[in-house]
Amino acid sequence: MLEAIVMRYEMNSDDKIYLENFYKKLERKLSVQCDRLGSIMPYTTENGQYFDMGQRHLEAWTNGFYCGILWQMYHATKKEKYKVNAEKIEERLDEALTKFVHLDHDVGFQWLHTSVANYRLTNNEKSLERSLHAANILAGRFNTQGNFIRAWNDSEKMGITIIDCLMNLPLLHFAFKETNNYAYKHIAISHADMALEYLIRPDGSCHHIAKFDAKTGAFIENLGGQGYGLNSSWSRGQAWAIYGMALAYRYTKDEKYLNAAKTCAAYFLANIALNDYIALLDFRSPKEPKYIDTTASACAICGLLEIAEFVPELEKSLYVESSLKCIKALEKYCCFDVDKDSILSYGSARYDRSSDREVPIIYGDYFLTEGILRLLAKDFLIW
Ligand code: GLY
Repeated sequence: MLEAIVMRYEMNSDDKIYLENFYKKLERKLSVQCDRLGSIMPYTTENGQYFDMGQRHLEAWTNGFYCGILWQMYHATKKEKYKVNAEKIEERLDEALTKFVHLDHDVGFQWLHTSVANYRLTNNEKSLERSLHAANILAGRFNTQGNFIRAWNDSEKMGITIIDCLMNLPLLHFAFKETNNYAYKHIAISHADMALEYLIRPDGSCHHIAKFDAKTGAFIENLGGQGYGLNSSWSRGQAWAIYGMALAYRYTKDEKYLNAAKTCAAYFLANIALNDYIALLDFRSPKEPKYIDTTASACAICGLLEIAEFVPELEKSLYVESSLKCIKALEKYCCFDVDKDSILSYGSARYDRSSDREVPIIYGDYFLTEGILRLLAKDFLIW
């Protein structure tokens, strides 16, 4: 029976059984949720139930994640119902994609999880069109003087770029692969190099924001962002750095990105070891009040497992065993009751806003799902 459980990495039998049982609970809940939720775009819950963020704010950066969960589960189970709802969500997003002026750099998060995933799994031509349109929007935000992708749209934020954008770069690598247009690849590489220089610190911690003069491209300063403040260490930003740099290595095979991912991972692991393997919302914040962010741990798990794909055999266990420790720590925050929406609670969007601090957040569920599927070799690459 045990031999039948396929693992991507070497693991003892207790861990194999643990993961297989975790997957069974996850699959059962996601299956019931799929029947109940249809094609909504969840963000967080209200009174224990998801609301449809697509109706309130179609351009929200988080609107692709549930679709990403559906495509992962379609790939893992081949159950048609996941695909049906995922396709509907992708179509619902067309209004935002066509208008496009209200979109920002997070088109990567939005369309990697929808149209790119669909195209990779089904070869749907319309999905390819959507994906390339989204990639063009992202490429159009590149500032050639400062070598950064502009994050947001407000006129006073023309020179702002953020660590999160590393996760949008795979959309450009996808577009390069489909078109052979090197412009996409050059932009992705230039932006990743900018992040190494201005966002990631030598000790593996990182700034959330870098501000440039949009006209000359000159670096001005770093700013605090969704973490505690200036020079702090926002844990989800740390997770974006781990995973984003590991992905930059996947698409370029330039060792400096893998080394950066490892440095950021070592910093992250040293910090979570101080808090029972759960990420604080910010690793450099006052001891009280103590806020955690489970989404940071979930995202970091996938980043650690991405690093594990590329390191020599004897180096893998650091990343695989650490990710398993994180999953076991996160289980305390998981709800597998099929009558309630969402799995992972205690996710935090930002330090200074209580409305979505320590609450269920959809990207926590996405990364948790991807992490479990990765370990069981049932995932496919959305990024
Ligand atoms: N990309 C925004 C965030 O991580 O909250």
